[in-house]
Amino acid sequence: MYELRGVTKRYTRGKEVVDALAGVDLTIGSGDRLVIQGPTGGGKSTLLQMLGGLDRPTSGSVELDGTDMARLSEAKLTRVRSENIGFVFQSFNLIPTLTAQENVETALVPLGVKTKERRERAAAALESVGLAERLGHLPAELSGGQQQRVAIARALVKQPKVLLADEPTGNLDESMRDEIMDVLEAMWKEYGLTFIMVTHDSSIAKKAPRLATIRKGRITVKENAGA
Ligand SMILES: Nc1ncnc2c1ncn2[C@@H]1O[C@H](COP(=O)(O)OP(=O)(O)OP(=O)(O)O)[C@@H](O)[C@H]1O
Ligand SMILES: [Mg+2]
Repeated sequence: MYELRGVTKRYTRGKEVVDALAGVDLTIGSGDRLVIQGPTGGGKSTLLQMLGGLDRPTSGSVELDGTDMARLSEAKLTRVRSENIGFVFQSFNLIPTLTAQENVETALVPLGVKTKERRERAAAALESVGLAERLGHLPAELSGGQQQRVAIARALVKQPKVLLADEPTGNLDESMRDEIMDVLEAMWKEYGLTFIMVTHDSSIAKKAPRLATIRKGRITVKENAGA
């Protein structure tokens, strides 16, 4: 699925140079679940941006099913992203003026899905994350955990191959954290997703079948046969 070779990302601001990724090689198979941890500023979010085609590496290649995303035109990259990759962020990133249903529908607009089908699929996605009763609510009328469920439904409604999550439980209290992890786990199984998640939560990291640690832009991966 993913094949990363020699990926570097250098940010330059005036005289200041930051090597956020300093040569990352990584293979991720279809249907894999990979958990990424590491100290703040280590490069976790930067790596996720490369995997999601939200940004391009300074050097190296980021192949998704044989296509190097680093070399695609902006238009093609946008297409690959909107068809194949779902994102969930720590700060839900919902549009405050749209209802839960409308927020989820936004993911289908770039794919040219017609209004009626959009409505049906968004409602089904919200139902699958346990929000069938909240379709007409605005984000401000939902709890944090419910808002994150909407964001998960929005990420999955297009039936992507890949789900990328950057500290999805970072803004939630403990009980909601477990709830959201259960939803993500269920979705991973149900959709047969390749699921890559950044987390600071060591109890989640402990249970991960495959655990990557990123420090100073360098990655190490450990297989955990017991998980
Ligand atoms: N747009 C940017 N411009 C300049 N420097 C950046 C930019 N984005 C990230 N960096 C720097 O790159 C390094 C890696 O940042 P990144 O956000 O990937 O870390 P992280 O591991 O996700 O940290 P955290 O756990 O705090 O989220 C940091 O030193 C950061 O300051
Ligand atoms: Mg980060």
